[in-house]
Formats: sequence, structure tokens, C-alpha cells
Amino acid sequence: MLRSNYKIFEERREFFLNNLNGKAAIIPSASLVRHHADCEYPFRQDSNFWYLTGFDEPDSVALFLSQNPEGERFILFVTPKHIIQEVWHGFRWGIEGAEKEFKADKAHSIHDLEKLLPKYIKGSDEIVFSVGKNPSIEKIVLDIFASEIEGLSRHGTGANGIKSPDIYLNEMRLIKSDFEIKRMREAAEISARAHELVRQSISSKTNERQIQGLLEGFFLEQGARGPAYNSIVASGDNACILHYTLNNAELNKDELLLVDAGCSLNDYYNGDITRTIPIGGRFTQEQKVIYEIVLEAQKTAINEAIIGSNASNIHNIALRILVEGLKSIGLLRGDTDGIIEDGSYKHLYMHRTGHWLGLDVHDVGAYRMGEHDVSLQKGMILTVEPGIYISDRIPVPQGQPKIDEKWKGIGIRIEDDVLVTENEPEILSSAALKEISDLEF
Ligand code: GLY
Ligand code: MN
Ligand code: MN
Repeated sequence: MLRSNYKIFEERREFFLNNLNGKAAIIPSASLVRHHADCEYPFRQDSNFWYLTGFDEPDSVALFLSQNPEGERFILFVTPKHIIQEVWHGFRWGIEGAEKEFKADKAHSIHDLEKLLPKYIKGSDEIVFSVGKNPSIEKIVLDIFASEIEGLSRHGTGANGIKSPDIYLNEMRLIKSDFEIKRMREAAEISARAHELVRQSISSKTNERQIQGLLEGFFLEQGARGPAYNSIVASGDNACILHYTLNNAELNKDELLLVDAGCSLNDYYNGDITRTIPIGGRFTQEQKVIYEIVLEAQKTAINEAIIGSNASNIHNIALRILVEGLKSIGLLRGDTDGIIEDGSYKHLYMHRTGHWLGLDVHDVGAYRMGEHDVSLQKGMILTVEPGIYISDRIPVPQGQPKIDEKWKGIGIRIEDDVLVTENEPEILSSAALKEISDLEF
């Protein structure tokens, strides 16, 4: 809990409230999610709720009233303190804590939400609420909206629409502040060091699960909350399953190991790194050729993560190098533009080359606005992660060469976390080595 940094949340709220311009925003927290019987998954706060409040409890609602420039503008509805419940489930800040520690102008019990919300919404032009995500809060909001609409038709006053909070928050979250960049550096650094630990201890490991344990144990040891997403520890052909998370196969010395893993810090900033290493310490000729193509594509694409460029440029640059490389070894044939145009490379490379990274691993923010790509700006953080996956799961498109057995089972991705700066791109995850000479032993 970032009590000492409450100013950061205050500044975000101020900016958000100024942009709301007469609207009332209702942002619910996450709830605990049942795993089985009466056991739950570890709690994961909703990223928008966290971004604006720094409050890390489930079953809460933040209310922002921009129509009240002088009055109460930030209201928190929280679970009240309860001695017995806290003995079972842990500490709660309660109503008083929400006001004192989290600077709510006013806090209430979450049990009073339905009763108090209509009064608070009065006087707002529109409601800002994310429809389709939280059925129980949504019911309350829609009931209020229905009576506001009725008021509008009878008396000429009332909120006359519901807007998504994404309109206001995505753009804010897409550009990282100095504080956020510092935290993202820390998340990337811990994640990169975990990958280094894997590289250095691979020779003593015999199963994917041990690697997962090593990574995730390191995240926890370093004070992170845990993995940012389900760690992918995929040896050999498993690496051709993009979201492989079984992580329980035996390791073979002549195969590669693809590890896609990153930590999530206590305040939810995330790393997302992929490295592919030779389990036995030596690449085979085929593995090395593919690795070199992916590495060249990745390094060249990273150089394009500069102000004024965009995610499509990064993808297109990487894709062209992958296609040219695959042509040079006979795994694709034909005119490069034609292959890219008709997608006949997609049995070997079937995903985009990166995504925004922040409080969400696939962070918020548009990549395109209608016809136009969103230009990269200073403070944006994105992943650059080309790969090649050679298996016979996807049929070879007509006109493309049949895949020789010697290539099958090679799956390689290389992924770094990159900050757009005024100068060159800063690779936040550079502590995880990726040159062939670093990976062989
Ligand atoms: N680990 C998820 C991704 O790379 O996008
Ligand atoms: Mn990624
Ligand atoms: Mn990843």
C-alpha cells in the first residue's frame, strides 16, 4: 500500500476530475474471484480503480463528482471495519481509513451505495461508468440512469447519457509519469534478473515446472506481488503454443526453452519478458538460424520505438525481416510484399509484434484512431516481441513450401520492454541477456 505516495493519486484524480467536466464517474473495484469451494484466487485490484485511488481492497466503489467544483468530489464506498471478519480475512481500512489515509472527501459503507448514489449523481450532465463488467453495480447505476432520464423528460434536468471511463483514463494511463517509469524500471529489472537466474541454472534443471518455481520464487523474494500473468515455460514444440502454461514437461538437452514471464509489483506495475535459450547450452544449426532471424527482427524493430513512429511501423519492420529470413532458408517463397499482403506467413508468425505495457500487461490505450496510427510519444512503454513458431498445427498455405522435419518443434520469441524517450529507446529489460554468445555454454 503506497500510503507515502498518496499525492500521486491525488494528482491523477485532479486531472481526471477536471476532464470530466460536469459528469459523475462511478469506478468499481475488483472483487475476489472464487477458485474452488470456498477458496479464492489472490486478489487483483481493478487497474482503473487502483490508478485513481491506491486503495487495494475488494468490493469498493470510487465516485467522482465533477459537477461539484467546491464540494465533495471524491467519494469512496468501502467495506466497513468488522473485528471478527478481519480476524478471518485480514485488515480493512474501513470508512475512517478511507477518508484519513486515502483522502476521500467522504467515505461510506459499500452497503449504503444503492441508497446514497442517486443523491450524489444529481446535477451531473452524464454518467461515466464501464458497462458490461460488474453486473451488481451496473444494476444500481442503470436504475439511477433510468430515473435521471425520466427526470430529464419531465423536468428538463438529469444525466442524459453513459460514457465509458476509458475515454478519460486510457490516454492518461498510456503516457507514464516519472513515478510510473521508475516503477516500470523496477518491474522490468526484477523480471530480467529472474530470466538471468533461469539462464544461469538451466543446466541443473530437468522439468519446466522447476523453472516456473525458480522465476516465481525470485519474484516473491524480491518483494513483488507475484507473476504478472501465468508464466509460460515451454520447452521444444510446446513453445509453438503461444499461451502454453501447463509447464510440466521434461527438459531435453537438444531442445530450446522459451520462457515468457514477468513480475507484478505491489502497486501492479508489470514486466513482460521472453527469452529463448538452448537447454543443453548449444544451439543446433537450425535453431541458431531461426534465432538469428528473430533477434535481428527484434533489435531492428526496437530501434523504431521512437517519438513520432507507431506500433504498426514496429510490427511491419519486424515482419519484413522475419519474412525475408524465412525466405532465405526456404520456409517461405515468393515476393515479400505479396507474402505480407496475403498473410501467407501466418503459419509461422501469427501474432502482432507488441503491445502497451503498464498496470495491465496488455495495457490500455488505442493503437489506431480510425484511419490513423497513434504516434509514439515520450513516456509510452511497449513490448517488442517478434517470434517464429514452426510446427505442423497450422496447414501450410497454398503456394508455400512444405516444412522439412528438421525445422519442426522450433519455437522462438524474444521480448523486451521498451520506453519511448526523447532520444533512443530505453530497453528496460536489457539485464536479461539475449545474444547467442551469452546463451551458449
Ligand atoms: N505474456 C503475454 C504477452 O507477451 O503478450
Ligand atoms: Mn507481451
Ligand atoms: Mn510476454
